[in-house]
Amino acid sequence: MVLWGPVLGVLLVVIAGYLCLPGLFRQQRPHEPPLDKGPWPWLGHVIPFRKNMFEFLKHMRAKHGDVFTVQLGGQYFTFVMDPLSFGPILKDVERKLDFVQYAEELVLKVFGYSAGQGDHQMIRSASTKYLMGDGLKDLNKAMLNCLSLVMLGPTGRSRGADRWQEDSLFHFCYRILFKAGFLSLFGCTEDKEQDLLQAEELFVQFRKFDLLFPRFVYSLLWPREWLAVGQLQQLFHKMLSVEHFPERDGVSSWIHYMLRHLREGGVTPAMQDKFNFMMLWASQGNTGPTSFWALLFLLKHPEAMQAVREEATQVLREARLEANQYFVFELSALQCTPVLDSVIQETLRLGAAPTLYRRVHEDYTLKTASEKEYLFRHGDVVALFPYLSVHMDPEIHPDPTAFKYNRFLNPNGSRKVDFYKAGKKIHHYTMPWGAGVSVCPGRFFAFSEMKLFVLLMVRYFDLELVDPDTPVPPMDPQRWGFGTIQPSHSVRFRYRLQPTE
Ligand code: HEM
Ligand SMILES: *[C@@H]1O[C@H](CO)[C@@H](O)[C@H](O)[C@H]1NC(C)=O
Repeated sequence: MVLWGPVLGVLLVVIAGYLCLPGLFRQQRPHEPPLDKGPWPWLGHVIPFRKNMFEFLKHMRAKHGDVFTVQLGGQYFTFVMDPLSFGPILKDVERKLDFVQYAEELVLKVFGYSAGQGDHQMIRSASTKYLMGDGLKDLNKAMLNCLSLVMLGPTGRSRGADRWQEDSLFHFCYRILFKAGFLSLFGCTEDKEQDLLQAEELFVQFRKFDLLFPRFVYSLLWPREWLAVGQLQQLFHKMLSVEHFPERDGVSSWIHYMLRHLREGGVTPAMQDKFNFMMLWASQGNTGPTSFWALLFLLKHPEAMQAVREEATQVLREARLEANQYFVFELSALQCTPVLDSVIQETLRLGAAPTLYRRVHEDYTLKTASEKEYLFRHGDVVALFPYLSVHMDPEIHPDPTAFKYNRFLNPNGSRKVDFYKAGKKIHHYTMPWGAGVSVCPGRFFAFSEMKLFVLLMVRYFDLELVDPDTPVPPMDPQRWGFGTIQPSHSVRFRYRLQPTE
């Protein structure tokens, strides 16, 4: 018994040594970016990074300049903060930077999905076929029907729907976008009432997972939360199981195509269920929160609301909705809304904060826009955080923290695409969808879902904040780097269907 103490001690020292040694000996080599190993062996800077990535990176940039390497949990990350130098990293003509393998490791951890060879390519080609171009038209139609179903119920406008109702704006937007998005991608059954109930149940569980998600990814859950996540995952696998698919009608071509590919590749049904969960997550985690910010900004900026309402009135002339009717909506209207497009782009600029990661799988030299050369070491990760380096750059977007609904409009009302930094035209002037090989393949569908929802809200509903003076809530700092940021608390609002007379 007495011996165990020292043995355990030695074991711990050996393990700690093994983990920390590479870090202790690592030195900045010639031409490498400034190296900041942080105060703790192995952990490095991981604590402030996880607490508030935005503030941490701001601090590091002030200390080291636009390119620097930091240690985070035994892994070295090189951040590039100068958007004029993103081009070579995103294009990666020499193929020395890898996204797929890095993503597959993450997906295995978070969704238990073990990706097969060519999955990434398969998802890209399914998305090009069915989430863009002509394929998108069918999906938009399905989404409109599902929004009608979710917002009005299975029988259309009910009597008394013009009574004011109060809700949390965040919950309201997330719930509607989630349920309608889920039903349009994963299909419905004959029984609409039942579908709505199932979608609601799925949303309730999804939110539980969603709230734990950032700390789950960083492995920071308490044991009880860890168990809860495991149970939630199993529940999703069951609810989204391919076993139920024969009963489902109108499963989108996107999901259908991908599942067929997996089936034909010999992927087990249990693994297909995990794939479904992953796709549910990718497709539903951002549109709801983004729509929340969009409506909130409109409610806080009457001149923007006015401009969007005028545009909506122009493109959707008829908006009278009799009892038992569904929304009347010409989908071609989605092509003619430069003002709303600018509002959504501005919302994404202020609310979407993904991190882009690439693993360096061969030593790599970055030539920056200012003709400096940096050596990136094999095995490290290159990371971009465009929220700080692009979205909030006052040179590219003057007064960057302010919501300006017409920021992405030219004076003549057309879409603005010319933005500059240091006198040079900048290609990636916002990056809510990531960029390069990992750019979001659902971005066109996401854009039209959010536009459909906002157009329906401003055209058919009256809405107002319960307290018009309520400030825009701060961002939840835990979520930097994970796509659209959620607010740290919600805002109450009131809505009703516009009365028919
Ligand atoms: C406002 C809404 C959305 C935002 C801000 C968003 C953002 C992103 C970002 C930043 C990535 C890249 C992640 C990375 O580099 O690792 C991504 C990936 C992805 N997104 Fe979206 N997304 C949205 C909506 C959607 C929708 C509606 C769908 C599908 C219908 C979708 C499907 C996907 C898929 C499948 C991937 C993974 C792609 C791959 O493995 O290459 N997204 N999204
Ligand atoms: C509107 O203005 C932009 C630049 O300000 C210009 O590039 C574009 O051609 C103009 N469009 C029309 C229809 O005049």
